[in-house]
Amino acid sequence: MDNNIIIPKHIGIIMDGNGRWAKKRMLPRNMGHKKGAEVFQDITRYCNELGLESVTFYAFSTENWKRPAEEVNGIMSLLKEYLIKAFDYEKENNRIVFLGDKSAFSGELLELMLDIEEKTKDRTGMTLNIALNYGARNEIVHATKAIANMVKNGEIDIDDIDEQLVSDNLYTKGQPDPDFILRPSGEKRISNFLLWQIAYSEFVYMDVLWPDFTRKDLDDAIIEFNRRNRRFGGV
Ligand code: FPP
Repeated sequence: MDNNIIIPKHIGIIMDGNGRWAKKRMLPRNMGHKKGAEVFQDITRYCNELGLESVTFYAFSTENWKRPAEEVNGIMSLLKEYLIKAFDYEKENNRIVFLGDKSAFSGELLELMLDIEEKTKDRTGMTLNIALNYGARNEIVHATKAIANMVKNGEIDIDDIDEQLVSDNLYTKGQPDPDFILRPSGEKRISNFLLWQIAYSEFVYMDVLWPDFTRKDLDDAIIEFNRRNRRFGGV
């Protein structure tokens, strides 16, 4: 990538278009998710190489449970597979954080998530956020309850509640807000993703379906972000 390009600190990615990718090829939807998981792995490595501070992937929303059980189970198995085998988290220097309400998970997947978070918490490289059973409204409710409890227990006064305190009670606490949100697949919706954190973020929409997404597409998105950034920077 061109040396003059500013690499963003944090990119949020909505991995969309897996179903349509599979449909175009007359394949089951889960084949789209399988290819999408491979792309997730490659793009994560590329974000590392580019030197990002954080990247957040929207893997499963609070609304995605409404999908047929076969599809939900397929996504959960892919997650396990990529977290255990293919994603070699023991060797990477990434801190891995799961954004979302973990109470929906149990058994092997929950243990794996907790184990990975614990084992990677002191890593100094990029923070890889995986949004799982994530919904931004749910996140804000969760933060509100935590803050209400602090007031109730006399730890803080109501007047101590400010934007920083809210940010500090979100799943992304301590991380920079996303510079931009990237949504492939041509859809132009935010779908309950990081609503608080995107107050000043740019949006980059792309027509490519997530399973077809390449490192070059990420370069193009970063270049597009730089173009917008420069326009505002000049004012
Ligand atoms: C959206 O595409 C994608 C999802 C709801 C699931 C994303 C999951 C993965 C890529 C696999 C596992 C994740 C990891 C992190 C290993 P869609 O199904 O809504 O696509 P469509 O709009 O074309 O139907």
